[in-house]
Amino acid sequence: MSKRVLLTGGTGYIGSHTAVELFAAGHDVVIADDLSNSSVTVLDRISEISGRRPDFVKLDLRDLNGLKQVFRRFDIDAAIHFAARKSVGESVEQPLLYYDVNVNSLLNLLVAMAEFKVDTLVFSSSCTVYGQPDVLPVSESTPFQPASSPYGNTKQICEHILRDYSLTGVGLKAISLRYFNPVGAHESALIGELPLGVPNNLVPFITQTAAGLRERLQVFGDDYDTADGTAIRDYIHVVDLARAHVSALQRSLHHPNAANYEYFNVGTGSGTSVMEVIKAFEAAAGVPLPYKIVGRRAGDIEQIYADTSTANAELDWRAEKTLADMLSSAWQWQQHIAAQDGPVG
Ligand code: UD1
Repeated sequence: MSKRVLLTGGTGYIGSHTAVELFAAGHDVVIADDLSNSSVTVLDRISEISGRRPDFVKLDLRDLNGLKQVFRRFDIDAAIHFAARKSVGESVEQPLLYYDVNVNSLLNLLVAMAEFKVDTLVFSSSCTVYGQPDVLPVSESTPFQPASSPYGNTKQICEHILRDYSLTGVGLKAISLRYFNPVGAHESALIGELPLGVPNNLVPFITQTAAGLRERLQVFGDDYDTADGTAIRDYIHVVDLARAHVSALQRSLHHPNAANYEYFNVGTGSGTSVMEVIKAFEAAAGVPLPYKIVGRRAGDIEQIYADTSTANAELDWRAEKTLADMLSSAWQWQQHIAAQDGPVG
């Protein structure tokens, strides 16, 4: 059944891909985004891919009255809450900003949802909640480690808020999706990741280096206890991740017996080292990638990858795209669109 879904942060990287997948599944999309880390032109791109344009409101979610206006104006059935700040380094420098934006936006959303009797929520969480787990792959029952940054702490706090609130019997059905490392772009190359300034994350840095915008990639550490000494992550194609949101929504809407608060790992289940990503990129793009090994980055963990069996079974979802798909689509995006739009600093 078609639902009207509010996407907070919906013009961002993961939100825009999710808008496309929601349209493909027959839903309606309303986006609220303050455009602090995305461009309004993303709406044109979503329309070009989907043949449908999301409704859009420019809004900072700390503005509770503005948020209530959105619920008043549109007949919202469910919300997917992406809107948040996500840079680890920035969060260390500006912790109050991170607590304010990430925590207060969720609180306001829950208040507005309660007032307008919207009881279905999917929340963007992160595998950062696990820290460096003792046992790999990491399952949903693995306990949280103390957060290593204010950003990571906001994800833990938001999950705790959802857990505590769902226990009150208020009727909210909430699902946290713990993202591993989303990379890649839509196959149309019309939407993708558009970092402001110098990218912090590995794949945008790789594609910008291959495009000649950066001199060389710095590989942060080759002395980890892994086969080639570089750190291991579970990279997931952003389109697979976007589809996990559609599956989570279906579960919240159609499984009345599911617990009021649930959380799932969204990854591929495979770990890939930084050196393996570099080699896979060179093969997929057909260009050499200049790189240099440097020291470890502060706060990085050695390795993490997901046990996805619970998500596969309960969400009836699995990641289908390969590492080559992720890197070739990221490269297409870099060449076609990011090159024109990218505010490169
Ligand atoms: C980081 C955050 C994570 C957050 C995510 C959101 C940390 C510890 N984790 O994930 O909580 O949810 O971003 O965007 O910061 N690398 C290089 N050279 C580079 C960039 C990265 O070698 O120029 C390496 C990193 O050391 C790491 C891997 O590539 O081993 C992936 O890094 P990145 O893409 O930044 O993601 P995470 O650090 O895993």
